[in-house]
Amino acid sequence: MTRIVVTLSWVLVFTLFSTQIFGQTNNVYLRADSLLKWMTLKEKVGQLNQYNDDWDATGPVTVDPNKAEQVQNGEVGSLLNCVTVQRTRKWQSIAMQSRLKIPLLFGQDVIHGYKTTFPIPLGESCSWDLDAIGRSERVAATEASAAGVHWTFAPMVDITRDPRWGRVMEGSGEDPYLGSLIAAARVKGFQGEHLGETNALMACAKHFAAYGAAVGGRDYNSVDMSGRLLREVYLPPFKAAVDAGVATLMTSFNDINGVPSTGNKELLTQILRKEWGFTGFVVSDWGSVGEMVNHGNVASDYEAALSAINAGCDMDMESRCYRNHLEKLVMEGLVSSAAVDEAVRRILVKKFELGLFEDPYRFCNEERERKALNNPEHTAMAREMARKSIVLLKNENHLLPLSPTLKNIAVIGPMVMAVNQNKGFWDVNVPGVDSNLIVTWWEGISARVSRETRLHYALGCGFDGESRKGFGEALAIAQQADVVLFTMGERRDMSGEARSRSNIGIPGVQEELLELLLKTGKPVVVLISAGRPLVFNYTADHAPAILYTWWLGSEAGNAIADVLFGDYNPSAKLTMTFPRSVGQIPIYYSHFNTGRPAQNDSDRFYRSAYTDLSIHPKYEFGYGLSYTTFRYGNLEINRKQFQKGDVVVVKVTVSNTGSFDGEEIVQLYIRDLVGSISRPVSELKDFAKVSLKKGESKTITFNLDAAKLSFFDQNAKPVLEPGHFAVMVGASSADIRLQDRIELMK
Ligand code: GLC
Repeated sequence: MTRIVVTLSWVLVFTLFSTQIFGQTNNVYLRADSLLKWMTLKEKVGQLNQYNDDWDATGPVTVDPNKAEQVQNGEVGSLLNCVTVQRTRKWQSIAMQSRLKIPLLFGQDVIHGYKTTFPIPLGESCSWDLDAIGRSERVAATEASAAGVHWTFAPMVDITRDPRWGRVMEGSGEDPYLGSLIAAARVKGFQGEHLGETNALMACAKHFAAYGAAVGGRDYNSVDMSGRLLREVYLPPFKAAVDAGVATLMTSFNDINGVPSTGNKELLTQILRKEWGFTGFVVSDWGSVGEMVNHGNVASDYEAALSAINAGCDMDMESRCYRNHLEKLVMEGLVSSAAVDEAVRRILVKKFELGLFEDPYRFCNEERERKALNNPEHTAMAREMARKSIVLLKNENHLLPLSPTLKNIAVIGPMVMAVNQNKGFWDVNVPGVDSNLIVTWWEGISARVSRETRLHYALGCGFDGESRKGFGEALAIAQQADVVLFTMGERRDMSGEARSRSNIGIPGVQEELLELLLKTGKPVVVLISAGRPLVFNYTADHAPAILYTWWLGSEAGNAIADVLFGDYNPSAKLTMTFPRSVGQIPIYYSHFNTGRPAQNDSDRFYRSAYTDLSIHPKYEFGYGLSYTTFRYGNLEINRKQFQKGDVVVVKVTVSNTGSFDGEEIVQLYIRDLVGSISRPVSELKDFAKVSLKKGESKTITFNLDAAKLSFFDQNAKPVLEPGHFAVMVGASSADIRLQDRIELMK
């Protein structure tokens, strides 16, 4: 009886106190500090503990039958893979039974859309359209937050230069400048005006850091690189995300030079917090705290917890190392209570910012969920983003765009009728969220052609496998067609997490079928769907027209039709280099010149390349065609010599010289001709996406801030060195149309 009285009076005191304190100040830090004073060590450790709900698993599962009891006891701070108003409300109500009623955070991989699915991020990055990318994340945030989700584990901002790695699909390609701008656009899109709005979603820049540089492109593998390269290429998008106000970061599975990111104090504290001033919190990737034992940096989960919390990893996703060992580590004086308090404080601050203490159910509104998940504006945005992501790789004799009044069109291949294939690897596919409302390619094309047009369908073959039994039917409809549309590529589970491939060719017998289709003499348009740059030399050399379509999401079919029939003139340009062979990897545009730079394929002793392969990639960074053509002229530079602090104004006139209105992504590259360390032969420093009606010309102005010419020296310190720079303006990293030189004076 006494115990009940004590507890009740305690609850009364705390309620009065918290109303007074929490109600009196909007200062989330004061409120977090006040709450901390009431928390036991067990409750504090609970806030650092994140579990997977049992609805879906995105990592190795730990069977844990009493999660509800732990939540009820205040021993869990967050759940992931828990979505919908109904389900999040259920779990939140259990958390509200805990002594201090600290609300749960719900996190979800909303990587490219929640119910409305957008193109995979690598595809979206090829739009180079920062505004559109931001708006697509705004839609994702609106839908997910309406479904009870507070936090997305996105954007993935890993720079990637190895297409063997399956996760290239989640990022923005190989370039740190473009990747940084896209990272910031995504963070702002997710988080909206400010956290606390019910349509705002906490973002999470991941995977910190250099996960995309895994040796051999093998997922989870080691990373070995200089501090200089880390800072110059792999960290900038994370810095951009932090500068954009990202609420959280997620550690990466890999080690960097032998130190796992999750226990890397240089990374998580020195760089992230002391140098960059990051004030949010850091969550480990799934189980990566405990995985430090496998890395061989610690001998036990106990030591793993010690290493991670002292490095600056605030929340432990799914490993249970914090839950099982942190209290003891504090009791034994190996982890200071101040370190635990600081981690807890960072998490509480976000819960206060989200308004969850005022109303733990404020993201649980069925009516808002219903409206948000059925908003036609969202599908319109998905269609816009999808057509802006499609890259035109080839278009011999202007085969494209097609006339919608063609009499017979054969539509062949494994994507034609596919539904879920359009969603890529990271779709949100849970009961109650019907993200399968996909416009198939067949539906999109059928809706666009004229009533007189007869569409003929044949599967032809699968994405993989050796079956050729569908060849006959495919060839038969091709024979009677005016044009053949042939879809090929990867199955969506061939790219993504734990999907590294040693062979990135077109799987199965798809190119074999293409060869037979081409032999019919009919014009064949090839549409390649994939999550990465693939190797498809036969197709590239023999098909007259090729569209690279990635995985386009909910509005795939409509976007494909928009481009095929010219309602949208493709404008996308590649953000990753496409190799000729897997043996050419790593290959990227911003490479050093070396002592024997190869200028062409005949340079025998001047070849930093292979004797059996061209020195050039199949398609370079920044490459993409249009149905029209563009001329570049009148390069003007306002000053050929400049000082630190100056802005060099570069102007170029771009003209649409073709017969279609279109958009051109005009790219500005520089080359530092002499540096204290070798500098890349080219570095993207600005771009502009310009719309031009046929016959129209516009002058593009680039303001090249001298600071953009700095780099990291041998000691990984930023330097800006006097000297000469090439300024190059072009339609791709290899298609330089105009160039000149400028000089930074001492
Ligand atoms: C996965 C991924 C990470 C994801 C997390 C939660 O293992 O590496 O990107 O956000 O677990 O699903």
